[in-house]
Amino acid sequence: MIGRLNHVAVAVPDLEAATALYRDTLGAAVSDPVDLPEHGVRVVFVDLANTRIELLAPLSGASPVAGFLDRAPQGGIHHICCEVDDIRAARDRLHAAGVRVLGDGEPKTGAHGLPVLFLHPKDCCGTLLELEERAAP
Ligand code: CO
Repeated sequence: MIGRLNHVAVAVPDLEAATALYRDTLGAAVSDPVDLPEHGVRVVFVDLANTRIELLAPLSGASPVAGFLDRAPQGGIHHICCEVDDIRAARDRLHAAGVRVLGDGEPKTGAHGLPVLFLHPKDCCGTLLELEERAAP
């Protein structure tokens, strides 16, 4: 069911410093920052040859990423995102298997303008797993 790795998200306390690390020190192409108020984050995408890294910083203290950074002040891997062909079919299959979907179970629009869902870390090997519907070809 799950397809390609779409991105690995890294929560960071200082988005400008993290962007400079990836752009200037590691030599990667990086995007401009994008605010995603629905998710409470500001993101920068790091383009790699085979996938992306999503640098995540909280937009406010109420952001879920702010709580993550309270526990990991230097930052750390926040979630991984894999693609699926049909996000509602994936949700229904996971629900039937007892995997909890965060929120109300309805897909939200993610960082790439595509529907996304997050799965409960306790049901996914301690890792927050994001599913993103694959863009139509
Ligand atoms: Co993500």
